[in-house]
Amino acid sequence: MELWKSCIFLFLNFCIQSEGIVRTSYGNWNIPKIGDRNIPSFLIDESKNQFLLDGLPFRYISGSIHYFRIPRDRWDERLGKVRALGFNAIQYYIPWNMHELEEGNHDFSGLLDFAEFSMMAFHKYGLWTILRVGPYICGELENGGLPWWLLNKNVTKQRSSDRVFTREVENWFEILLPRVKPLLRKNGGPVLMLQIENEYGSYDACDQQYLRFLRDLTRSLVGDDVLLFTTDGSAESLLKCGTVEGVFPTVDFGPTDDAKEIENNFKLQRKFAPNGPLVNSEYYPGWLVLWGQKKQNLPSPQTIINGSQTMYSLGASFNYYMIHGGTNFGFWNGAETEAPCITSYDYDAPISESGDVTTKYLEIRKWIKGLTDWPTPPLDVPGNSPKGRFGKIKMRLVHSVEKLKTLTSLGDPGDCVETDKPISFETLKHPLGLVAYQAKINSCGNLTIPSFGDFVHVYLNGKYIDTLTRRYYNLTRNSVIIEGCLENEENRLFMLVENQGRKTFETINDRKGILSDVFMNGQAIQFWTQCGIKLPLQEDFYFRKAMRNNYRKNVKSNQKQGVFIGILSVDAPTDTWLDTTGWGKGIAIVNGRNFGRYWPTKGPQMTLYIPAEFLKIGENSVMMVELEGAEEACTSTSSCIADFIDHPVFDFQ
Ligand SMILES: *[C@@H]1O[C@H](CO)[C@@H](O)[C@H](O)[C@H]1NC(C)=O
Ligand SMILES: *[C@@H]1O[C@H](CO)[C@@H](O)[C@H](O)[C@H]1NC(C)=O
Ligand SMILES: *[C@@H]1O[C@H](CO)[C@@H](O)[C@H](O)[C@H]1NC(C)=O
Ligand SMILES: *[C@@H]1O[C@H](CO)[C@@H](O)[C@H](O)[C@H]1NC(C)=O
Repeated sequence: MELWKSCIFLFLNFCIQSEGIVRTSYGNWNIPKIGDRNIPSFLIDESKNQFLLDGLPFRYISGSIHYFRIPRDRWDERLGKVRALGFNAIQYYIPWNMHELEEGNHDFSGLLDFAEFSMMAFHKYGLWTILRVGPYICGELENGGLPWWLLNKNVTKQRSSDRVFTREVENWFEILLPRVKPLLRKNGGPVLMLQIENEYGSYDACDQQYLRFLRDLTRSLVGDDVLLFTTDGSAESLLKCGTVEGVFPTVDFGPTDDAKEIENNFKLQRKFAPNGPLVNSEYYPGWLVLWGQKKQNLPSPQTIINGSQTMYSLGASFNYYMIHGGTNFGFWNGAETEAPCITSYDYDAPISESGDVTTKYLEIRKWIKGLTDWPTPPLDVPGNSPKGRFGKIKMRLVHSVEKLKTLTSLGDPGDCVETDKPISFETLKHPLGLVAYQAKINSCGNLTIPSFGDFVHVYLNGKYIDTLTRRYYNLTRNSVIIEGCLENEENRLFMLVENQGRKTFETINDRKGILSDVFMNGQAIQFWTQCGIKLPLQEDFYFRKAMRNNYRKNVKSNQKQGVFIGILSVDAPTDTWLDTTGWGKGIAIVNGRNFGRYWPTKGPQMTLYIPAEFLKIGENSVMMVELEGAEEACTSTSSCIADFIDHPVFDFQ
């Protein structure tokens, strides 16, 4: 806060000295005069309701594309395809949780090097960047982009002016925004404007003090001559809670053939931004998909073009969300109340998950090609990358699920903690994926867990019993009758609990693991061992060991849950898909890299995308951690099939 005040003070001093300052409702502009094209700047010309880029009228057709959902080596390919459409900008979020998985330990390398992403887009393809800094982003990402460890803080309300929350945001923005600053247009870079928060009007807090805090914090770190904006659904109530004085309001809405509807959406924006350009920050050519979803209701390419043409004719700037979706690799998918989001973030976007041009792509490109006054016409249609069908490989069951907790990595005992009562993922400081809970019980009966998230796979003495479910559509199940306890002996109760993604917007206090006592016949079970399962496993070590050993040794016959291993031989690496048809539910790991969850018994996603760069010539290790049982994929006990095919399969009805 002090920093912010001193900035104002310095700035006012400067204003007095300089005649050339330009003030608009959306910022103070330290440029000699509007229209000077020699000084990089991006601002709103309120007299003409338009953007000015380096002093000249500007509008954009952009596409959302998330660097963190694309293999680093494929950024170039995907950005080139965005430019070839005729777009002149990209838009993306910054996911706080991915950059700070461990509190205080920031990662901006490799796949997370957003500055490099924007510089490549700019220098190679002339694409501007519209940047959405959060801190909350939604994006169908785990916890809406907020770090899991915020749940360990005494935050009464996330995304509000709660001082505990805002202090964390200050810490993050003080790390993030200095990295954004050199990329800003005023400093010669490609970043035109910054979105704070995301569809805040849709959140129940409606906390204006929080939005003012975010605005002032951002300005204090990048200067008050940077255009800030908000995005909200086009409804008056949403805009009321999502906008704040001095920050340019934009709206989002999907395709429609009804021009009147589009005009009305922009009229609402105009009500909150009387002097500014028309902007649709999210125009949806596709949509997200949840596990278990049977149908997809998408706009036709004709409607997408029709709505685009209407917006274009109105002089609007607009962004396709998504132009290219990519993949929720690892455990980064979020969840909605009904069900978790699938691993693929293909989104039915114009550029497919594997970077291919689609019919939608070609239609949009054709439309832009026909715009005679558009300054960046499409380029030649780029080719698609080769795809490989490597065929079927044998997967052998090498370890039971119970063994997972000892398999974390080389000589590493894992993150095991012993307590009287079970503890959550957050208390264990194990953010994502799986935690194993183990206790000794003397008798069987009714096992009840009043509170947990999300799925509890229950095993007795190594045998799979059933799965408890917090909520999956209309299914809720928190108890199971367990039978088969050994008399006068201690029995091993083992529970593998799956965090299948924290919710993206309904709640952001979505704790995972066992969140209450666990009862057997009404008695709380005492003394627990909890182990965070570190995936991917140390595959080289573990893989060789497993292949050397007699793989049947550790496995009970007729067991179909556990760790399966196989070898994929590849002559020439290309993109491929692991077809999980016939498997139950689990996680697929190739060459030590977690490609995400599979759940073909629910669908619709049947295949996992494996990009070429993660395969090597020769032998590739394939590991499947199967939680529920690979039924149809197995020809015999402990010999099952994984198939590598050359296209994705989504099983919609
Ligand atoms: C948590 O926050 C509440 C409300 O701000 C406060 O009353 C309480 O003392 C805090 N507890 C801890 C442990 O900091
Ligand atoms: C969009 O579709 C409607 C209904 O078919 C049609 O009347 C209108 O002319 C179309 N608009 C554009 C811009 O193509
Ligand atoms: C749950 O949903 C399924 C599928 O839509 C339906 O068949 C079933 O009747 C529903 N059950 C309840 C209890 O609502
Ligand atoms: C187990 O006990 C709970 C609590 O008494 C009860 O609600 C539940 O129906 C029982 N479960 C089964 C499967 O019988």
